[in-house]
Amino acid sequence: MEKVYYFTGAGHSRATAEYIAQRLGRTAEDITVGKREADADAVTVAVFPVYCESIPETVVQFLKTVKTGFAAIVAVYGGIRPGNALFEAQGILTRPLCAAIALPTGHSFLKEENGFDREALLPFIEKIKEPAPVAVPPMRRSFYADVLPEWRSRVGVKIMKSGECSGCGVCEENCPVGTMEKGVPGDGCIRCLRCVTECPEGALDFECRPFLKRFLERKKKSETFLFI
Ligand SMILES: Cc1cc2nc3c(=O)[nH]c(=O)nc-3n(C[C@H](O)[C@H](O)[C@H](O)COP(=O)(O)O)c2cc1C
Repeated sequence: MEKVYYFTGAGHSRATAEYIAQRLGRTAEDITVGKREADADAVTVAVFPVYCESIPETVVQFLKTVKTGFAAIVAVYGGIRPGNALFEAQGILTRPLCAAIALPTGHSFLKEENGFDREALLPFIEKIKEPAPVAVPPMRRSFYADVLPEWRSRVGVKIMKSGECSGCGVCEENCPVGTMEKGVPGDGCIRCLRCVTECPEGALDFECRPFLKRFLERKKKSETFLFI
């Protein structure tokens, strides 16, 4: 059987995972809820965002728990660069890949809608149904991808709390790095924006600094990279 998992900050990976799961007749599971491990399955599908041309740490830990069958991975990216996320994921996994795709979506920091290409996912989904090993080649990362990635996000994006916050704790429960406290992100915040997305009161918002906004708006890629 196939099982579909996702990690999401702003919701793009969830929407993509739910589409894949629906095509497979399954439901998609959030890897930050419950036991955070993959079950024993024929194909484990993992959908996650590209962060700073790499893989969020939460996803790294999850990929290590895939112990059976094949893995199939979807790295959604915000139209800048997917970097080497797929190749890195392949190196972390102890199981063979049967399919991998880097798929452009909206960018979290630009508050863009998730307009992913459903057609582009169809061959990926077909390969999951009849899995056979595939190898992902290394892909190019930009020279500054490793330059203080979390610091760059912290400087470029400010998370703000409004007076509407009732202190319900949903942001703390949802923070994948456990840094959120009463609506205020702490030092280890990775700016995934999950707290903003999940706040039931809409009491959290964020501001993308003009220099980062300008950079992101000059989009470079809307290319799909598929390996099947
Ligand atoms: C901290 C952070 C870093 C990001 N780095 C990149 C990047 O290097 N390249 C890119 O194309 N998009 C980048 N993005 C955009 C996301 O990959 C993209 O918007 C993705 O769809 C977000 O998925 P999500 O909504 O499931 O969190 C980044 C987003 C965040 C929050």
